Amino acid sequence: MKNLIDIRDMSVEEIDQLIHTAIDIIENKEKYSKKCKGKTLATLFFEPSTRTRLSFEAAMFELGGNVLGFHDAGTSSTAKGESVSDTIRTVCCYSDIIAMRHPKEGAPLVASQKASVPIINAGDGGHNHPTQTLTDLLTIKMEKNSFNNMTVGFCGDLKFGRTVHSLINALMRYENLHFVLISPQELRIPEYLRSEMEANKNITFEEVSDLNDAISKLDILYMTRVQRERFFNEADYIRLKDSYNLTKKTLLNAKEDLKILHPLPRVNEISAEVDDDPRACYFKQTLYGKYIRMALIMKLLKIE
Ligand code: CP
Repeated sequence: MKNLIDIRDMSVEEIDQLIHTAIDIIENKEKYSKKCKGKTLATLFFEPSTRTRLSFEAAMFELGGNVLGFHDAGTSSTAKGESVSDTIRTVCCYSDIIAMRHPKEGAPLVASQKASVPIINAGDGGHNHPTQTLTDLLTIKMEKNSFNNMTVGFCGDLKFGRTVHSLINALMRYENLHFVLISPQELRIPEYLRSEMEANKNITFEEVSDLNDAISKLDILYMTRVQRERFFNEADYIRLKDSYNLTKKTLLNAKEDLKILHPLPRVNEISAEVDDDPRACYFKQTLYGKYIRMALIMKLLKIE
């Protein structure tokens, strides 16, 4: 594997190995503190980010490497009209690996075709977010110790939520999973993904709109925000933005061993009162994102 553009670039065995490495990093941090000495990660963020960019940067620092890049394309020569291809060719002269976020679906793939160093898709439009999926899988491994035999609820903006698309793609390769897809009618999963799910033998799924009706059967609840930046008009966003609000009251009917995940940032879909519930895992999930990205950087740089 030279690049990570889509979670399906990795086999189930490669994902298992990466998770194994991430857990070893968690348990033996010092062992990894110089693994990337002399190597440089470039973070090119053409779209806003807190967790993804900073966890990549923290990951490279904890591996003893260096970081450069930009977090606002408006301060780069993109603002003068430079193409993604030319930007990538330039940054390849200064770095050993690039993590890139872009609002256009497919931009990291185009970049990988021009690059001489590994490219990591750190989110492309409403399409994919494979390193969030690796984060989500490490969280599920740490919290449930299995990817099989579970009912997983995905709630919120399933149309534009790229983290949902990538995680469904990843989980469809495990066994005996039931997905409950909870969203307003207008924000249901894209048709291409529904067709893939219908053809998949490992999973079953249902589409519903009421979180309260679904909550009692879930082993994992993956909450997402309504993706304002992907809407074509503000009126639709305002109408749909508060479709869900997970509260202590909603959780009265939930399983004791439910695990609540959210890629963050959240807006109103999880009340702050839920943060102290032992079932809330979303801030642990944020921390796991750093460790899985450390493992990924090492893998793509072919560092043992
Ligand atoms: N989960 C995630 O992608 O968060 P950021 O947008 O803050 O990077």
